[in-house]
Amino acid sequence: MKSHHLLILLFALICACCNDDNMPMDDDTGGGGDPGIDLTDIDHNPTSYDFPTPAFFPEPNLPADNPLTDEGIKLGRRLFYDPILSKDNSMSCASCHIPSASFADNLPTPFGVDNEAGARNTMALINLAFVPNLTLNWDGKFHSLAEQAIEPVENSIELDESWDNVEEKLRNDSIYRQYFREAFDIENSNEITRDLATKAIEQFELTLISSDSYYDRAAVRIEPGVFLDDDAARGMALFQDEGATGEKDAQCWHCHSFGANKTLFTNGGFFNNGLDEVDSLTDFEDAGLGAVTGDLGDNGRFKAPTLRNIALTAPYMHDGRFATLEEVMDHYADGGHPAPNVDAFVPIIDLDEQDKADIIAFLHTLTDTTFTQNPAYQNPF
Ligand code: HEC
Ligand code: HEC
Repeated sequence: MKSHHLLILLFALICACCNDDNMPMDDDTGGGGDPGIDLTDIDHNPTSYDFPTPAFFPEPNLPADNPLTDEGIKLGRRLFYDPILSKDNSMSCASCHIPSASFADNLPTPFGVDNEAGARNTMALINLAFVPNLTLNWDGKFHSLAEQAIEPVENSIELDESWDNVEEKLRNDSIYRQYFREAFDIENSNEITRDLATKAIEQFELTLISSDSYYDRAAVRIEPGVFLDDDAARGMALFQDEGATGEKDAQCWHCHSFGANKTLFTNGGFFNNGLDEVDSLTDFEDAGLGAVTGDLGDNGRFKAPTLRNIALTAPYMHDGRFATLEEVMDHYADGGHPAPNVDAFVPIIDLDEQDKADIIAFLHTLTDTTFTQNPAYQNPF
């Protein structure tokens, strides 16, 4: 908290300096029709970002209306970490999406600015550029990252701020005026909008790429001398080889793998994986996908999340009900709980103690600290 305040003070001072020295000031303080600040003295010459698709990954699914640039990503990163997006300047996106936790937060459910607990577990942000037909949140409510980024700002159990206020704060900040002008083709501070802010955040989020776990090195790129140990290798066969090596099929791959090289650990789909025993489709505490589509058959279905960095993102499931991977495996080991729309692959899962331990050993090979420690992803303040 203290260092936060110090930082804010520091930036206030720096901003004051920029204003005096080289930023055109808003001289018009009179009411009615704010003319904004001319930005054409600031260079606008963005560098397009060469998207670093890792070897063996599918083609990235990049937004046609929002080409990535170095300047856009830099702005998005600053916004992502800036408490200016919250009602009382106390929280940012990164308060819940923390790099060391793979951009999740290790709480069952997070607390927003008013210290009110949310209903759902914070999701990791990782390899979002590669998920086919990107659908976001546990319930699939959003279809693009820019669209998704609007909500946390306004949500009363998250940042609880209005975009009108955020726009005003950004327009009044000389660093943001410079960053927005550098990233986007605008000429006046009044053109700094929610639309551009969320596009910048989208650009930053798309750069969050993990491709350097032990699994990537041993089983995707097959680097010389890098091998999975016996437990993890058997866990991998259980998880994803569909019984090809003679190991039993733990069925995980149906929902948590995608593509020839199985690099994503999600197929982007929505399923009921048997968390709750219910007699009727109206009995789920959280309807999940059903609340979004209005289709009763979708009640109790949630997004199959990626399992990359899963060892770093406890607790688990949409409500954070399981504290450990052991608890997750106990859930799946006997085929979960019955409900009318449980996916057919879940009840047939049958794992003994050794199977569970081996799958957990495999899941640990998905930990990628190159990702969590990537300097380009950290707090720029
Ligand atoms: C108070 C904690 C909190 C804050 C602050 C927060 N988030 Fe989240 N985030 C969550 C939770 C919880 C979910 C899951 C929401 C749901 O499914 O209803 C989520 C989901 C997401 C997802 C979907 C990921 C996926 O794979 O589907 C994205 C993207 C995201 N947040 C980005 C952001 C951005 C950008 C900001 C800042 C503008 C932000 N979040 C602020 C808690 C938070
Ligand atoms: C029918 C699809 C399906 C199958 C098969 C399946 N899962 Fe899942 N998995 C899901 C869904 C959907 C969720 C999220 C459910 C929720 O939170 O409501 C999930 C959640 C998880 C989570 C928690 C993720 C997080 O971020 O909280 C782990 C770990 C996991 N599954 C591992 C496995 C393993 C290991 C297997 C094989 C033994 C497996 N799953 C089989 C669909 C599936």
